[in-house]
Amino acid sequence: MNATDETMHPVSYYIRTFGCQMNVADSVDYARILEGLGCVRAESEESGDILVVNTCSVRAKAEERAVSYLGRVIQQRTETKGPGIQTGHRGIAFVGCMATVRGQEILKRFPEVRTIIPARELDTFKERILRAWPELKESSGPDTYPLLRPEEKFERFLPIIRGCINHCTYCIVPSARGDWLVSKPPDEIFDEVEKLLDSGVKSITFLGQNVCAYGLEIKNSTQSGFDFADLLSGIRDRFSDRDVWFKFLTSHPRDVTEYLIDVIASHECFSRHFHLPIQAGDDAVLERMGRGYKSSEYIETIGMIRRKIPEMRLSTDLIVGFPGEDEDAFEHTLDVVRKLRFDQAFTFLYSSRSGTPAEKWADPVPQDVKKQRLQILIGIQNQIALENASSKIGEERTVLIEGPSMRSSEDGMVAGRTREEEVVVLPGTSDDYGRRLNVRLIDAKLRSFIGERTD
Ligand code: SAH
Ligand code: SF4
Ligand code: F3S
Repeated sequence: MNATDETMHPVSYYIRTFGCQMNVADSVDYARILEGLGCVRAESEESGDILVVNTCSVRAKAEERAVSYLGRVIQQRTETKGPGIQTGHRGIAFVGCMATVRGQEILKRFPEVRTIIPARELDTFKERILRAWPELKESSGPDTYPLLRPEEKFERFLPIIRGCINHCTYCIVPSARGDWLVSKPPDEIFDEVEKLLDSGVKSITFLGQNVCAYGLEIKNSTQSGFDFADLLSGIRDRFSDRDVWFKFLTSHPRDVTEYLIDVIASHECFSRHFHLPIQAGDDAVLERMGRGYKSSEYIETIGMIRRKIPEMRLSTDLIVGFPGEDEDAFEHTLDVVRKLRFDQAFTFLYSSRSGTPAEKWADPVPQDVKKQRLQILIGIQNQIALENASSKIGEERTVLIEGPSMRSSEDGMVAGRTREEEVVVLPGTSDDYGRRLNVRLIDAKLRSFIGERTD
């Protein structure tokens, strides 16, 4: 029985997600909870009675995007009238990381926001929704996972650890999501993986702010236990004969062990992609960032990974313009980028976050100099990425097809991902969605390959 009003329309919901993969995964949980309360999925943000806005605070731009979205969507929602629109149920739930750090301000500024649900208090989602929409009632709800994006039929994110205790001095994430570590019990993860595989999922990405910290809160207090490498070997022992790839995000360089890389090397079911944020190449900057490694140690870790798994595709995150990063320090970052030749790098301009230690630190470097440096870094890295990608032309890959190619100029083309997390576009039809195809890479672009089928 759905939650209804006197005209028997079920209450509908729509979820708009900003931010990282963790938010994408959380939104699936929110959808499941809302459907358990009898709500049905709406076609659009304008028509949904309950609009859940799941937000990010990692940089100022992410927050600005959410605020301008709110303004725009509220305007559109007031103008949308018609059958099925039940003004009595209409309202917004402002959730996620920005709800932790700026929720009260948003609640005051936008009266349409009925409730805020901070990412730090994810467990209160249902309770807060019920308080804001008392007309909803618990029902048995679906046992299946609702699909928010079509490719979720085949590819899923699965959070395995919550929170972060690293306190990098620029970062809002520990205060937004929790400065603790809570690892999901292994049996729960095995059960979830089993369920996902039974439902046809073919690629599972384990998520955590630092997946390598999995189980450490228990290991540190009891001197024994089950860490991330143990989890992956458990996964391999149970599921490696199934048709699945296991991926994971994100890893902290300090916590990558040889044993972990040996476990990954031990089976083809594990992705050949490693995302290992370095953030900066200068030791003094790394120290002030509180990252817990020197650039030489990071370089050694990459060397170890490449020695054990030569085909590993490597990506990183880099921050430009951290307080006190002078020209020399920036050059050190460029040196490391040239030396390590990442296949992909996500480059960010430092954004001061309120309440973080770095917020208070003096920074004589003007913003336009930082922007120029960012452009220099992007130029160098793009060239490396394109050279790396071009060197792969002619190689064969297996591609899990996700759906149509996003570019409208590419009618009749489908897109998917390899085990190495490369995006490949190739001719195909909707019959191919969810299939693994054997493909040869025939052209390389900056962020994707063009492929042709080999069978
Ligand atoms: N837990 C993950 C992801 C953190 S956020 C990790 O530690 O890798 C993703 C990326 O955003 C970070 O790796 C960092 O490069 C960037 N970032 C975080 N805070 C930032 C800030 N204040 N300004 C600019 N970039 C930031
Ligand atoms: Fe932020 Fe550092 Fe934790 Fe990543 S490891 S979430 S950058 S504090
Ligand atoms: Fe993710 Fe943004 Fe929160 S990057 S953890 S949604 S601050």
